Amino acid sequence: MVILGIESSCDETAAAVVRDGRVLLSNVIASQVDVHARYGGVVPEIASRKHIEAISPTILRALADAGLTLDAVEGIAVTQGPGLIGSLLVGLSMAKAIAFSRRLPLVGVNHLEGHVAAIFLTPDPPPFPFIALVVSGGHTTIYRVEGFGRFALMGQTRDDAAGEAFDKAAKLLDIGYPGGVVIDRLAREGDAGAMAFPRGMRDSLDFSFSGLKTSLMVMLKKRGVPFSGRELNDAAASYQEAIVDVLVEKTLRAASMAGAKRIVVCGGVAANSRLRDRFRGDAAAEGMEVFIPPPVLCTDNAAMIAVVGTHLLEQGRRDGLGLNAVSRWPVAG
Ligand code: KG4
Ligand code: ZN
Repeated sequence: MVILGIESSCDETAAAVVRDGRVLLSNVIASQVDVHARYGGVVPEIASRKHIEAISPTILRALADAGLTLDAVEGIAVTQGPGLIGSLLVGLSMAKAIAFSRRLPLVGVNHLEGHVAAIFLTPDPPPFPFIALVVSGGHTTIYRVEGFGRFALMGQTRDDAAGEAFDKAAKLLDIGYPGGVVIDRLAREGDAGAMAFPRGMRDSLDFSFSGLKTSLMVMLKKRGVPFSGRELNDAAASYQEAIVDVLVEKTLRAASMAGAKRIVVCGGVAANSRLRDRFRGDAAAEGMEVFIPPPVLCTDNAAMIAVVGTHLLEQGRRDGLGLNAVSRWPVAG
């Protein structure tokens, strides 16, 4: 089954063509990062307008890259939520228009389920069940995943998401946007033990990152002058290590509590090079296998949406043209 995926929940306009929920035929991502960078974060109104400009060329490009026309497409999968409503509506409207005019089945997909499903586009995906850590700009959650759509919540953030912790620190340090990417790069030349940052909620599988952000703020206030040079590298590495420490530690603990031997790490923050290295090393030491999609499939993309859509369509799910965007949509209670 050849499925066209469409994703527009935040600041990337994305389209992809996937065959049989496994084979990536094309994956086009039009990023708005440059537009939002000057505001230090995503401006929802601007994001919707940019999606409108980018959506048609992005879909046409995805079809061209796959070497196909719409005649070959057998279904449309689109992100329905969670995300920015104005942004989601652009993808949804386009998906509905194509489905209606081409008489194709349409299905709305949960973005978080999409992040987890990205792993099925890798050559050697894990069988169910597994533990999944979803770490993105809006979510930091540990699930036990039994199958498609079968998620049990094990832990989640009580305040900021891990991606937010990166982005807010980058704003405080005045080093650019999106923060995760810049901190990742600066941290490579830094000493992760140089500065002490707190690790929140050590005894729980839930996360808290707001204290970490506050401690950086207090540190900067006390200093009076911004970090630069070597010290900036050290600050980035130390701050990043505090986030990575709790993500790795709690996910491994959740896996051992659930008796799971396989862990999937996904979402934008899973593109972080230190997080990838630490998970690989620490999981192996505990006799667990860790699966992480390549960075381009960790950050927002439409291929992951097409994978979930394929399974939903195979199960017989069809959404009507009344399909609406949802801003909050947990995959597990
Ligand atoms: O999954 P995603 O692309 O969008 C959401 O669904 O939120 O995740 C975006 C988040 C941002 O907070 C960004 O700073 C973070 O992922 N991110 C990273 C890296 N690349 C993206 N964080 C740490 N290290 C990275 N290399
Ligand atoms: Zn995402």
